[in-house]
Amino acid sequence: MASILILNGPNLNLLGTREPEVYGRATLGDIEAMCRAHAEGRGLDIAFSQSNHEGALLDAIHAARGRHAGIILNAGAYTHTSVALMDAIAGVALPVIELHLSNIHAREDFRHRSYIARVALGVICGFGAQGYLLAIDALHSHLERAG
Ligand code: DQA
Repeated sequence: MASILILNGPNLNLLGTREPEVYGRATLGDIEAMCRAHAEGRGLDIAFSQSNHEGALLDAIHAARGRHAGIILNAGAYTHTSVALMDAIAGVALPVIELHLSNIHAREDFRHRSYIARVALGVICGFGAQGYLLAIDALHSHLERAG
C-alpha cells in the first residue's frame, strides 16, 4: 500500500480556535480524521504530523525518502520565507503538493510569494479543510499515473 506524508507547519496546531474566519473551525485532529477516512477509501496509508519548528519539518521531509511515495505540505508561514524547505523538497525528489486552507493569493502581498511552489507538483489553496482531501486525490492520481 502506498504511503503518503501529510506534514503541517507552524501554528496549524491552533486550528479550530485560530482566526476561524480565515481558517475554519476544524481542528487539526478533525482534519487528520477526515484524511485517514478519505485515504483508506483509496487504499492509501498516511502519516500525519505537525511541527512549529523549521528544522523538524526539514527532518521530516528528509526522513520521508524511501518511506513515503509523496508529501502533502502545509508549511504555514514558512511557505513564504523558507529557502531551506524548498531545498529539502528539491533534495529528496519526492512529489510534493503545496496546500493552504486559505486562498493565499487573495490575502496580504507577502503571502503571494511561495518558495514551496517552485518545487511542488502543484498547489491547492482556498478550499479550507476540504483542500486536504483534494490534495490526497491529486497525489493519489499522480502516483497511479507515475506507476
Ligand atoms: C496557511 C497560509 C499561510 O500564509 C499562513 O501563514 C498559515 C496558514 C493556510 O493554510 O492557509 O499559517 O498555510
